[in-house]
Amino acid sequence: MQPPPDSNRARPGPNDDVEDLMRVAHAAAQLAYSPYSKVKVGAALLAEDGTVYTGCNVENASYGLTLCAERSAVVRAVASGERRFRAIAIATDRPQALMPCGACRQFLLEFAPRLWVHVQGAQSALETVNLSELLPRAFAPRDLT
Ligand code: THU
Repeated sequence: MQPPPDSNRARPGPNDDVEDLMRVAHAAAQLAYSPYSKVKVGAALLAEDGTVYTGCNVENASYGLTLCAERSAVVRAVASGERRFRAIAIATDRPQALMPCGACRQFLLEFAPRLWVHVQGAQSALETVNLSELLPRAFAPRDLT
């Protein structure tokens, strides 16, 4: 019997680029479970070896338990044995891009303090920033050594 397709381990290929990564993030956003906010967010986290791990926001009737798309992608990646990342694409069905929340910035920084962060809304151009700009002077693993 064939194993089920593992969509969080899509491997777009060597000529993969930012637009491709963002397309994967937009597709991931369609899987969002967000009956409360109605906001769909998708993330595509590019590992050093080219593997892409996707995530989407998963809300809960106990609102505070909501998991953001970015953290869901990181958890999938780390649980798959990956800890080295190059970039993340974050897509939303909202017209304008959403920047990662503070908790997600900290969560990403744990593994990739210089991660490239690409964001795009349904009607906005792709924008790129570096995580080091989004969370300057961060509390980091080195502070515990
Ligand atoms: N959300 C994310 O998935 N990522 C962020 O960085 C910001 C917010 C989600 C959580 C919630 O389901 C919805 O967006 C509204 O806050």
